[in-house]
Amino acid sequence: MKIFIDTANIKEIREAVEMGIIDGVTTNPTLLAKESQPAIQILREICSIVSGPVSAEVVTLDTEGMIKEAEELAKIAKNIVIKIPLTKNGLKAVRILADRRIKTNVTLCFSPAQALLVAKAGADYVSPFIGRLDDSSHRGMDLISDIKRIYQNYGFKTQIIVASVRNPLHVVDAAKIGADIATVPFAVIEQLVKHPLTDIGIQRFFEDYKKIPVR
Ligand code: G3P
Repeated sequence: MKIFIDTANIKEIREAVEMGIIDGVTTNPTLLAKESQPAIQILREICSIVSGPVSAEVVTLDTEGMIKEAEELAKIAKNIVIKIPLTKNGLKAVRILADRRIKTNVTLCFSPAQALLVAKAGADYVSPFIGRLDDSSHRGMDLISDIKRIYQNYGFKTQIIVASVRNPLHVVDAAKIGADIATVPFAVIEQLVKHPLTDIGIQRFFEDYKKIPVR
């Protein structure tokens, strides 16, 4: 499974990249709004750090506006993927962008029916938001299994990005189901690294080593 980092924070991206585990980045307007630089500047910097796909979201609702925005965003770097909201106009934009060979990631997916349409429209990625489904008493992970099954049944090429990830178990469950990608906030990446027995083990090894002559 590929791991993307879900952030627009340059420091977090650099650190995760140094760990050697990052295959791409997803951003959204909320994440960009947390940073102090202008959005385009941040996206440009992210693309200079990461060679894998970097998702940048449009903020217009009509198809023509989305296409215009997408074409501007696509100029930032070759690895920009255009994030499009899951609406009728969004699906129309995906089809047009696919024909123009601009990659798309359809976001805010909350049902298998929506995901089926995303694949039919020709999107490169779909982003089902599992944490937000969990928040509203629906099992987010069931959506991932359903989409995986539907896409496998028909050989759809659209890749599933498990999004709105809130904890390490979301990542592990996504991997068990066989999702293509999980996009993970930096705090959850840190949680994934940690295990109390690893820390205790390191401490014990260090203490024991102090008791013996080295040479
Ligand atoms: O990848 C989508 C993500 O940024 C949304 O996460 O935690 O706001 O539901 P969250």
